[in-house]
Amino acid sequence: MKTKILSTSEYDIALAGEILAKGGLVAFPTETVYGLGADALNEEAVKKIYAAKGRPGDNPLIVHISEREEIIPLVKEVTPKAKALTEAFFPGPLTVILPKSKKVGNVVSGGLDTVAVRMPENETARRLIKAAGCPVAAPSANTSGLPSPTKAKYVIDDMSGKIDAIIDGGDCKFGVESTVITLAGDTPTILRPGAITKEMIEAVIGRVEVAKAVLEGMGKDEVAASPGMKYKHYAPKAQVVIVDADKKVYEDFVNARKNAFALCFEGDEITVPKVTYGKENDDLSQARELFDALRRLDEMGAKKVYARIPHTTGVGMAVYNRLIRAAAFKIIDLRKPFFIGLTGPTGAGKGYVSRYLSKIGFHILDSDKYVRKTYENNPGLLKRLAEEFGNDILVNGMLDRKRLAQIAFSSKENTEKLNRIVHPEVIALCEKEAKPLSVLDASQLFEAGAQEKCYKIISVIADWKTRLKRIIKRDGITKEQALARMNAQFDEEYYIKNSDFVIYNNGEDIEIQIKKIMEEIL
Ligand code: TXA
Ligand code: MG
Repeated sequence: MKTKILSTSEYDIALAGEILAKGGLVAFPTETVYGLGADALNEEAVKKIYAAKGRPGDNPLIVHISEREEIIPLVKEVTPKAKALTEAFFPGPLTVILPKSKKVGNVVSGGLDTVAVRMPENETARRLIKAAGCPVAAPSANTSGLPSPTKAKYVIDDMSGKIDAIIDGGDCKFGVESTVITLAGDTPTILRPGAITKEMIEAVIGRVEVAKAVLEGMGKDEVAASPGMKYKHYAPKAQVVIVDADKKVYEDFVNARKNAFALCFEGDEITVPKVTYGKENDDLSQARELFDALRRLDEMGAKKVYARIPHTTGVGMAVYNRLIRAAAFKIIDLRKPFFIGLTGPTGAGKGYVSRYLSKIGFHILDSDKYVRKTYENNPGLLKRLAEEFGNDILVNGMLDRKRLAQIAFSSKENTEKLNRIVHPEVIALCEKEAKPLSVLDASQLFEAGAQEKCYKIISVIADWKTRLKRIIKRDGITKEQALARMNAQFDEEYYIKNSDFVIYNNGEDIEIQIKKIMEEIL
């Protein structure tokens, strides 16, 4: 099929209206995003929309009208709240859901007994609906799953050859789809946030709820109030990860990731390839530019994208709602510094991995160093140790390390006692010096209970025989001594069971393993 590209001229709108009236498909601009329209009362025409988009048949469409009163024949009843909302926000970026009348077919409602109705503010959209002489069913004019089109060129990219015509009406004013609110249940509930915010709606009809899926995503067994919420959405080809951080931390994080792209705000100082989506404190600008930015990242060939988190209030809720879906709900939280834990039994090669991670740019916190530091300038700690192990461990108020070691390692019980006192202090010190995503290199990670502080844990393990050989060679000790040390630690199974990633270090190329793991964590 050859797709006509039409203008907003009188002639072209009349032509487009005729195409719709005859059961054809026309894409058209609205103030939110471009829509893909068909006669809402013609089931055969509506079916073509699902086919052109590749849209699942249980995901209902919004019916667009050009005058407020046109909602009346589509619904069972215009309730008082519906009347108030349509008076306040029609025409505009709001869609209301009500029980449907017999006039509305099952294809357009995706088999539900409700219908979604919206009266766009965009002049071209309303002229087209008038010219068609029927209500117009229209989802966003993108291929199902891709970002909604905010410019005619993206509609052309997705729909050329699949539909009869596209009206080029320039860029969309808001850039995110309409707010969808259902009035069919007991409490009005926002199913999709948009430019008409919760606060604006509450000012008109009082308390409304926001569906849980709007900001959190759906559990496997949950039933979607709005079928559109359960599908993967707005997803570019690139993998997107949201970074929850302030400007500076975000900049440092992204600039250290050589192969990544940034989806950031204007003015962010970024040294990797970037696309901006609006200004930091201007949610309308973010909404307007987000989908365009996602499509541009694909055009640039981005594989991995780190997006700066928007505010989630006002129209920001709509921006965040689209972005977390584009990111498949992947968020890195850099607000609290957290560690990537690195551990493993003696002789497995943790030290090598640690040095390699440092070489490729990770900030390493060497816990041994912090154990030593913990004892320095820490009278409180020395006092507690003296209470526990006797004043003998102090000489002129200074710690006699040898004496402490003798006592503390004389029994398992004493060792544990010492650890219980010292480990929390070491972790606290490490936390103080941590940057987000620092690697905490700690042979006693689990013994210290530091796994709680770790975002992900990597264990380095190796065959028992390989380890034994390494320890004897490295530390110049006997086989018996080496075995005693190995036996005092957790076994291999324990490390495997309690880690997110395991590096096997029996002489294979572990750098490939390390790189792959770090890529996955990031
Ligand atoms: O701004 C917009 O609303 C754009 C422009 C073209 O008007 N349209 C749009 O349509 O975004 P679409 O189909 O991409 O999104 C409609 C959303 C879907 O999530 C759908 O599941 C939900 O509205 N929806 C439609 N009818 C519904 C109903 N009866 N009950 C619950 N959810 C419904
Ligand atoms: Mg859509």
